[in-house]
Amino acid sequence: MTDSPRFDVDACRGAFPQLADGIAYFENAGGSYVPSPVLDAMDAFLRSSQVQPSWSFASSRKARERVDAGIAALAALTGAEPDELVLGHSTTVNVLVLAQALRPTWEEGDVVIVTNQDHEANGGAWRRLAASGIEVREWKVDPSTGELDPAELARLLEGARGKARLVAFPQVSNVVGSLNDVGAWTAMAHEAGAQVCVDGVAYAPHRLIDVKGWGVDWYVFSAYKVYGPHLGVMVGRREAIAAAANANHYFHAENVPAKLNPGGMQYEAVAACAGIGAYLDAVWADSFAAPEGTATLPDPRTRHADVFDLFAAQEEAIATRVVDYLATRSDVRLIGRATGERSARMPTIAFHPEKVAPKVLAERLAEEGVAIGASHFYAPRVLEAMGLDPERGVARISAVHTNTLEEVERLLGALERALETPA
Ligand SMILES: Cc1ncc(COP(=O)(O)O)c(C=O)c1O
Repeated sequence: MTDSPRFDVDACRGAFPQLADGIAYFENAGGSYVPSPVLDAMDAFLRSSQVQPSWSFASSRKARERVDAGIAALAALTGAEPDELVLGHSTTVNVLVLAQALRPTWEEGDVVIVTNQDHEANGGAWRRLAASGIEVREWKVDPSTGELDPAELARLLEGARGKARLVAFPQVSNVVGSLNDVGAWTAMAHEAGAQVCVDGVAYAPHRLIDVKGWGVDWYVFSAYKVYGPHLGVMVGRREAIAAAANANHYFHAENVPAKLNPGGMQYEAVAACAGIGAYLDAVWADSFAAPEGTATLPDPRTRHADVFDLFAAQEEAIATRVVDYLATRSDVRLIGRATGERSARMPTIAFHPEKVAPKVLAERLAEEGVAIGASHFYAPRVLEAMGLDPERGVARISAVHTNTLEEVERLLGALERALETPA
C-alpha cells in the first residue's frame, strides 16, 4: 500500500448516477447500483460493436477487444486466469450447469455435502443429484446462531470415508452475514479428496476475491452485485474445468472454459465488466498517492486490494452502528454475529422484527425514502433452521462502501418510527 490513503465517499458516490434520486439505498445485496464506467462500457459495446467478436472486420475486432477487456477486469478482480472464468447467465445457472457437468465424473453412492446456510443457488442444484444416485448430506447450522461449525464438516467428511466428491458452502450467507473461513474449509475438503464449490455472491462486493490464495476449485458470484451488469461469474481451476464433462455443444468438449458455458457469453455484459475495474482504479487514483519518486503504478491486484481495504473500513463503521442499534432493541432478533467487525461479518444485516411484519417494515421505510428488503431472500432453509417462518421472512439492511454514515442515521431514525406500531 502506498502513503496516505483517504477514502472519499462523495467521490465514489459521484460515479453512481442512480444515487442522485436521494433514496438511502440499503438493498445492495439484492443488486448493487452501477458506476458510469460500467454504463459507458455497455453503451459503447451496444452502439458500435454488437456483432460476433470473432471476425476480421473492424467492428468485430473492436468487439473482441472490449470483451477481452471485460474478461481481464474479472481476472484481476478474482485472481483467476482469463481461461478459468465461466461467464454465464447467473450464479444459479452456472451452478446448475456445473452440477450436470460434474455428475458424469462421479459414481452412484458418491457423496456431496451441502449446507442449509446457503442461498438455494448453491444448494438446489446439488440436492437434485440425489435423483441420480448421489448421496446428499447436509451440514447444518447451529439453530441459535445460524453459524456453520467446521467440526461438523470434519465429522461429515469422516463419515463419507473417501466417497465425498464435493462440499458446497457459502463464503458469506446473504442472510446470516458472517464471514466463513474459505481457505481452512477448502483445505479440509481437499484433505478428504473432495472439491469445493464456494458461493461468494455475498462476499464479492465487500472484499477482494483471492481464488488462488484460498485454493478453491469452483467459486461463483454475480457481477450485478459487484457494481456490474447481470452476469454470473464462475471461476474454475483450469484442471477442474478440463476434468469436468462437456456441458456445451459436442465440438466444445475440449474447449476450456466454453465447455461449461452453453449458450455462450452475453458479450455486452462481459464488456461492461471492464468498467468495474475502471471504477476501482478511479477510486485508487483518488485515494492513494503514487509511490515517492516513481511513475509506476502497483499492479491491478495490489490496487484492488488497497481499494477493498478502504471499502472494508467504511463498511465496518456502518455495520457497527447498525448492529449496535439493533442490539439495543428487545423487539428485534438480530441474525448473525452481534458485531460490525470486518473480519467477522459483512454489512449485510438481517433481523427479525418481532412485532411488525418484515414486509410492512420495509414498506414503512420506503415511504421515508429508505430502501431495504424483506423476504427469505431465497435462503428459506436457514430461516427454518433458526426457527423463523420463511414466508414471513426477515428484514435485511445491506450496505456497501457508497453508503454514508448520514444515510445510516436516516435509516435508523426511520426504523425507530417504523418499529413503533405493531403490524
Ligand atoms: C448469496 C447468494 N447466492 C446466490 C445468489 C443467486 O445469484 P443469481 O441471481 O446470479 O443467480 C444470490 C442472489 O441473491 C445470493 O444472494
